[in-house]
Amino acid sequence: MSILSWDDFDDDSKKQTPESKPETVQQKEASEQKVVSDPKPAQKNTDHSGYVGTSGTSTNDQTDSLVRATESLKHLDVAPGLEELEMGAGRVQVDDKAMINCRADLNQLVPFKYEWAWQKYLDGCANHWMPQEVNMNHDIALWKSENGLTDDERTIIMRSLGFFSTADSLVANNLVLAIYRLITNPECRQYILRQGFEEAIHTHAYQYCIESLGMDEGEVFNMYREVPSVARKAAWGLKYTQALGDPKFTTGTPETDQELLRNLIAFYCVLEGIFFYCGFTQILSMGRRNKMNGVAEQFQYILRDESMHVNFGIDMINQIKIENPHLWTAEFQQEVIQMILEGTILEIEYARDTMPRGVLGMNAAMMEEYLKFICNRRLAQLGLPEQYKGVTNPFQWMSEMMDLRKEKNFFETRVTDYQTGGALSW
Ligand SMILES: [Fe+2]
Ligand SMILES: [Fe+2]
Repeated sequence: MSILSWDDFDDDSKKQTPESKPETVQQKEASEQKVVSDPKPAQKNTDHSGYVGTSGTSTNDQTDSLVRATESLKHLDVAPGLEELEMGAGRVQVDDKAMINCRADLNQLVPFKYEWAWQKYLDGCANHWMPQEVNMNHDIALWKSENGLTDDERTIIMRSLGFFSTADSLVANNLVLAIYRLITNPECRQYILRQGFEEAIHTHAYQYCIESLGMDEGEVFNMYREVPSVARKAAWGLKYTQALGDPKFTTGTPETDQELLRNLIAFYCVLEGIFFYCGFTQILSMGRRNKMNGVAEQFQYILRDESMHVNFGIDMINQIKIENPHLWTAEFQQEVIQMILEGTILEIEYARDTMPRGVLGMNAAMMEEYLKFICNRRLAQLGLPEQYKGVTNPFQWMSEMMDLRKEKNFFETRVTDYQTGGALSW
């Protein structure tokens, strides 16, 4: 099986290197002025920091730079950039705003149309955390001890770090390279920026665990290409990124708008909404049994972030449906149901692969029941019919964990507040 990566379909973007970009009017003017005013380029300051000093022969360069900067600003035209906005000349009204295909000025954050997006941004900031805050000493001792963990428990830890260390990068890349520019609403973009940082923190957390435990980094980071149950999940997600990752992709037709919806459903409802749940449950179950508490605490914070990402994504998808009901056809709904079911089947495969026997008070059959319960929940959140009748949640404690406030974390290791402003000295 060949696994896709961004490099496979990013050829167009590679061609558009900064060197090959056409010169802007200002750059052209600046370079012409440079030829006239800088007759001795060979004697320029060779300090690559870009700093031009005030002593010795640099004084003339500084004067020349100032002249060129002043001259360039005289030609600054404020119209480019705004002219492509149909309403660029006016102040944005709430009714001008829309989730997709909006032509109103995206640089005006307020007035808010989607208060829920802004509130989630604030909630995300209030939940801020960093991986280095978590003490890993007990985990390191347990991981290195001969009889501290069973082989099955070790498999779970390795597979989880293997899948998540890559999956959070796939999510972050999809956010930044595909979704961000197509969601045409500034308060949602504000949350997406926050989410992007949280994904970076998650990748940091996995790296921190891998490094602390002294794992084989090559083995862990290549699992998404080498271990079938991990690779199939990554490949499933990546295929939904392809079309939107093309820099030339734009929305605006029913087909392309549906393509964006497919991507949002694949990433928010399946990747973050289903693919994370088996591994999270396994690791948190380990923490409940007082094993690998540091890794489990990291995963608990990540799970709380992820449950907010899923809720934000579902709010966005449902808002797009409300504003564009013609996209939500019966045929498209069937396609979405199939996507959610495919994701559930892949996650059940992963559960069987990572739990060949009972472990940590759970087994693959219980996880299957849980994943079917999650599948029903995702479908219901999208307004679609549940596909698994009569399933219940065998892991009630997972729901409680997602709602815990940071300062009352399950393992009660410490209290952390973020008051970074007080630490600044001027
Ligand atoms: Fe994440
Ligand atoms: Fe996420």
